[in-house]
Amino acid sequence: MKFTLYFALFALAAVSSPVALASRAARSSHRRLARAAKAPAAASFAADPSINVTGIYGAAVASNTHTLASYPTTPERKAYTNIYGDWQNFANVSAFHFIADMDVDCDGPKANCKGNRDGQTATSFGALDATQVPYFVLPERFTIQYKSILKDNALGAIICGSKMLYGIYGDQDADSPQVIGEASILIGQTCFPGGTIDGGNGHPQNDVAYIVFGSQVPTGIEKNSIDLHALKALGDGQMKLLQKALGL
Ligand SMILES: *[C@@H]1O[C@H](CO)[C@@H](O)[C@H](O)[C@H]1NC(C)=O
Ligand SMILES: *[C@@H]1O[C@H](CO)[C@@H](O)[C@H](O)[C@H]1NC(C)=O
Repeated sequence: MKFTLYFALFALAAVSSPVALASRAARSSHRRLARAAKAPAAASFAADPSINVTGIYGAAVASNTHTLASYPTTPERKAYTNIYGDWQNFANVSAFHFIADMDVDCDGPKANCKGNRDGQTATSFGALDATQVPYFVLPERFTIQYKSILKDNALGAIICGSKMLYGIYGDQDADSPQVIGEASILIGQTCFPGGTIDGGNGHPQNDVAYIVFGSQVPTGIEKNSIDLHALKALGDGQMKLLQKALGL
């Protein structure tokens, strides 16, 4: 049986008739198409490939001297995360950062998304559609305490796995206790594709970096929507300045 199969394959390869060649070419082009369909194109709000995502993530982990505030990542208060201001005073760029988990926010016009128990039709500065707008959420108390370094809808960069995505500070968490580490379902599902993320299921590991450029607000933010090209342009510009300031 085995021998026969090997022989048949050998015969096919040896003959290499035009028909066999054409059908092999068709098969390989079909495989190429299947591969292309499987690997999704980078999101339009992902960082430029020239950004050293690994290097910036490493710098975020290592820059932990100047603590601005501390919040739990879950209502059970099992783990706390510090927000750091080590990067506030570079010459040409200013950011604060923290590393946390990622809860999923599903507010806005599609607040009834799967698994979402506490969706609200409005977000803090509008009614951003969580399925269309990459935004992240900050504890309300922090946003009040640090109002002087944080504008509404300010730019942020989120590092999840090997990806860096841009988003805006579009919502506040006012739960009791106020927790840290939350992003719109669009960010959640782009960070962690594969169907595990929905309105009730986030990413529980505390390994996502959030970098917030508090004074920078992209143009093109409407009540429900955002101009993703403007977001990415501002994000890449600020990130290149930060990368330079960090010596990467
Ligand atoms: C990114 O940064 C890391 C850490 O500084 C460095 O080792 C690596 O060479 C950098 N990668 C690129 C492509 O510059
Ligand atoms: C800051 O930006 C100015 C103007 O673009 C530039 O001349 C200067 O070298 C920059 N400084 C640093 C530390 O990158």
